[in-house]
Amino acid sequence: KKIAIIGVPMDLGQMRRGVDMGPSVIRYAGVVERLEALGWQVEDRGDIQIGRPKRFDVKNESNLKDLEEVVEANRLLAEETAEVIADGSFPLILGGDHSIAIGSLAGTAKDKENLGVIWYDAHGDLNTGETSPSGNIHGMPLAVSLGLGDKSLTEIGGFSPKVKPENVVLIGARSLDEGERKLIREKGIKVYTMHEIDRIGMPQVMEEASEYVTNGTDGVHLSLDLDALDPSDAPGVGTPVVGGPTYRETHLAMEILAEKNIVTSAEFVEVNPILDMKNQTAEAAVALIGSLFGEKLL
Ligand code: ARG
Ligand code: MN
Ligand code: MN
Ligand code: MN
Repeated sequence: KKIAIIGVPMDLGQMRRGVDMGPSVIRYAGVVERLEALGWQVEDRGDIQIGRPKRFDVKNESNLKDLEEVVEANRLLAEETAEVIADGSFPLILGGDHSIAIGSLAGTAKDKENLGVIWYDAHGDLNTGETSPSGNIHGMPLAVSLGLGDKSLTEIGGFSPKVKPENVVLIGARSLDEGERKLIREKGIKVYTMHEIDRIGMPQVMEEASEYVTNGTDGVHLSLDLDALDPSDAPGVGTPVVGGPTYRETHLAMEILAEKNIVTSAEFVEVNPILDMKNQTAEAAVALIGSLFGEKLL
């Protein structure tokens, strides 16, 4: 029962400064103590070093912002994550913006032929430089992990793809760009949009999704973007989208995952304290982490 926490103070995958303070405010909200109270042995491995660009948000010729710094940080994160797994610990990665999923999946998928992925997010993060409306790399990590996009991103960790489309499930989607819709259709990626959540309810969604990502896989990575939650419950995010699952529904989702005991690595990303209300979003992240790791009232 060992958890290794890796902080990734990355804010270069998008344009709102402040999400680099995510790891710090999630720690401040008591993540280590919360997990220790549940009987886990917790090792906080500190933060990955992030380079500073001379100027922020400069796009290269392939429509990618701050590419070099994002690549370098994800390389380091991939190594650190693989090390933690080799050590027998559960990697719990704290963002930072969602571009860090490139490195965490590179580290997690190493030596796994069929990693399952639960992408709990308002967005698909399935853009490439060609389809991205923004050039923000935090809108691309799932595509990169499927082997699509700039080589310097897909080749992090020395192999590609990290995951197969049939092992991925998206939950909570309500904002998809045209290129992302096309990719989802082409690859037949399983998506529970808000429509399905409304229609069949979170318990059924989580039952089906759990079944789906464990079918023939050798591990399950949970990538939870706090903007998946309705902004009324998680205001401290850079790209909020109205009409998301509530704090309660998301808790239930985490509790179902804990019951099924299928998640083998996880990241919580996009907490931006500058945009938050009294650390509400970081506190939500810590409470959700508690549920994911087995917290129960009685
Ligand atoms: N689809 C939009 C883009 O590509 C928004 C992405 C938001 N991603 C996130 N991880 N919050 O720019
Ligand atoms: Mn592999
Ligand atoms: Mn998102
Ligand atoms: Mn995201």
